[in-house]
Parts: sequence; C-alpha cells; structure tokens
Amino acid sequence: MSSILVTGGAGYIGSHTVVELFRAGYNPVIIDNFSNSEKSVLKGIESITGERITLYTGDCNDADFVNYIFESDPEITGCIHFAAYKAVGESVEKPVEYYKNNINSLLVLLTSMMQFNIKNLVFSSSCTVYGQPDELPVTESSPVKKAESPYGNTKQICEEVIEDTVAAAGEIKAVSLRYFNPVGAHPSSQIGELPIGTPNNLVPFLTQTVAGIRKELVIFGDDYDTPDGTCVRDYIHVLDLAQAHVKALDYLDKKKNDSLYRVFNVGTGNGHTVLDVIKTFESVTGEKVNYRVGTRRAGDVEKVWANADKINKELNWKTQLTLKQALNDAWSWQKVLKNRGKQ
Ligand code: WQD
Repeated sequence: MSSILVTGGAGYIGSHTVVELFRAGYNPVIIDNFSNSEKSVLKGIESITGERITLYTGDCNDADFVNYIFESDPEITGCIHFAAYKAVGESVEKPVEYYKNNINSLLVLLTSMMQFNIKNLVFSSSCTVYGQPDELPVTESSPVKKAESPYGNTKQICEEVIEDTVAAAGEIKAVSLRYFNPVGAHPSSQIGELPIGTPNNLVPFLTQTVAGIRKELVIFGDDYDTPDGTCVRDYIHVLDLAQAHVKALDYLDKKKNDSLYRVFNVGTGNGHTVLDVIKTFESVTGEKVNYRVGTRRAGDVEKVWANADKINKELNWKTQLTLKQALNDAWSWQKVLKNRGKQ
C-alpha cells in the first residue's frame, strides 16, 4: 500500500482528503505544525475511518524534518501539498511571511522529493489565480491575471515553480488543482472547518451568525453586475474537493512517462450569489440568517465559476454533492462545535 505525505493534513481540506485517501486504499502520512489546525481533527479522522494515522508534528520549511520523514517511510510514493497560509486579508498585512512560508515550504518539499526519488505531487492551488476572468465559466486556458493579494500571488508563483521543476528535473509528475470555493463539512460531523478567530469566509461566518456567535452577517456589496447584485462564486462541497485529490494521485500513478504537469479547475461549474447561499441555507435548515448589506470588500472578484470539463474528462471526476448538502453539513458541524463549547 503506497503512503502519501499530506502536508497540512490536519487542516480543513487536508483532513477531508486524508479520509478519502484511506477510503481509496492509500496510507496517508500527515505533517502538520498545527499553526492553523488542531490535534482534535485527528480523532475525528480516526473515528470516521477506524484507521490509525501516522503524524509528524513539524514544519514543512524544516528540510531536515522533511528528509527525516522520507527516510522513515520508504513507502511514500507521492505528496499532496496543502500546508500554506491562506488568509487573503492577512497576506496584504504580512506579505513577507506569506511569501516566505508558502514558497519556501514548496521549495523544501520539491528538493526533498527529488533527493528521495519521490515522483508524484498534487498541489493545492486556487481559482484566485484568474482574478476577474474575462470570460465565464473560466477554463484552465483563461489567462492568469495579476494576483489581487500576496496570498494569490504565492499560488501563482508556486504553480510556476512546479512547472519549471517538472520541465527541468525530468522525474517529477505534478498536478495543480485550482480550487473554487470549498464549503461544508464531513456528513458525519466528525470533521469540518475550524476557522481560528473571526472567519474571513462566507459560510463559516454565516453559520457562526446563526449559532449566535456573531451578531450579524454583512453582505459585502449588492451593487455588482449579477442577478441580485451580490457576488457570484462556485461553491464546492469539501468532500467532492477531497475526492479530486485522490483522482489526481491515481492519474499520476498511472502515468509512467517521466515528466508531466497538468492544471485542473476543481469546481461544480455552477455559480451562486451570496444571497442564493443565504436563501438556500434558510430553506435547507429552517433557520433564519440575520444579515444586512454593507459596502464592497476590497479585492473581491465580482463573479467567477468554473468550467470543469477538463477534470471531468481527464480525471473522470465531477461533483456529486450539492450546495444544499454542503450547507446542511456545515450547519450540522457548527452545532457540534457549539456543543463542544467551540466556535
Ligand atoms: C465569498 C463571497 C464575499 C464573507 C477566498 C480566497 C480563495 C479561497 C476561498 C483560500 C464573496 C462574500 C464573504 C462575509 C460576504 N481561500 N462575503 N460577507 O473571497 O471568494 O475566496 O476564500 O484558499 O482563494 O480568495 O471567499 O468566502 O471570503 O467570499 O458577503 O462576511 O462571500 O464578498 O463574494 P472568496 P469568501
């Protein structure tokens, strides 16, 4: 059974991907420094899968530590690289920390992979690389635009680093997955999003508002050129997103040619406005969302949703779960957190 090193495997998308890796017969090995996640997540993964997890607590920027992991587990055949700082607003305040952490951790991982002849890499990228696309739905050949934030720029730079490394090294095969908006939680309510502090993202802020943790949800502008004036996004269930990583690994495993670099959009192909999300949440849960319309948020893209034909065709992956299911799962998870006395 091949082991897969999952950096940031205790994080939101990482933890759901670890569950799906077990289900697919892989042996996930987690490296996490718990700067943006909690050890309780591991118990949740183990209760879903019944499997014991191999955990290395440490930082992907520590080359000796990453080498030690590859020395300790010769069964590792591939890596999924989630570990990164990801708060758009924070990246504007602390650009040097974001460039250092997000880019250096990838450089350390790539160096170590080549040293230990580990060939398969799946990279966590983001639709943020497109900025405001000229055409919608956005395809992988849509131009990468100047990033709206240092966070988005680190994703663009990391994609280029991987592409150049694949071209030069000749041994690494890599896939970059450009996520749209991950939402929801595992249907078992054993794992889900654990925003630290005030959530930046819409759905956790919405569920915390309904849970009474936040006073009200502010919609950042309703004067956009969209059906109801609020921004449009492609909200994808985190479990569907997790399965896309397994499909990417399977794809790389099957490709025997030495070097390969592919980029895939990972989205549902459908756009929803902020008001759609609120109304859908209310209809699914029967709860009322206390919201008001405020001013636009700087850096927000007006509308973006995926053309997911390429991943459907090449990885035989498409979304199975709906926005309704994602919002229902997010709400169930929020209630579990509240019962645990957490946010
Ligand atoms: C979604 C919509 C807001 C909060 C970012 C990153 C992306 C990824 C996901 C890391 C927007 C509106 C939000 C609120 C609101 N991050 N909104 N009130 O900005 O599309 O994407 O997070 O991987 O890379 O760019 O996600 O959830 O912040 O916003 O009205 O309190 O909800 O304006 O239209 P975003 P988001």
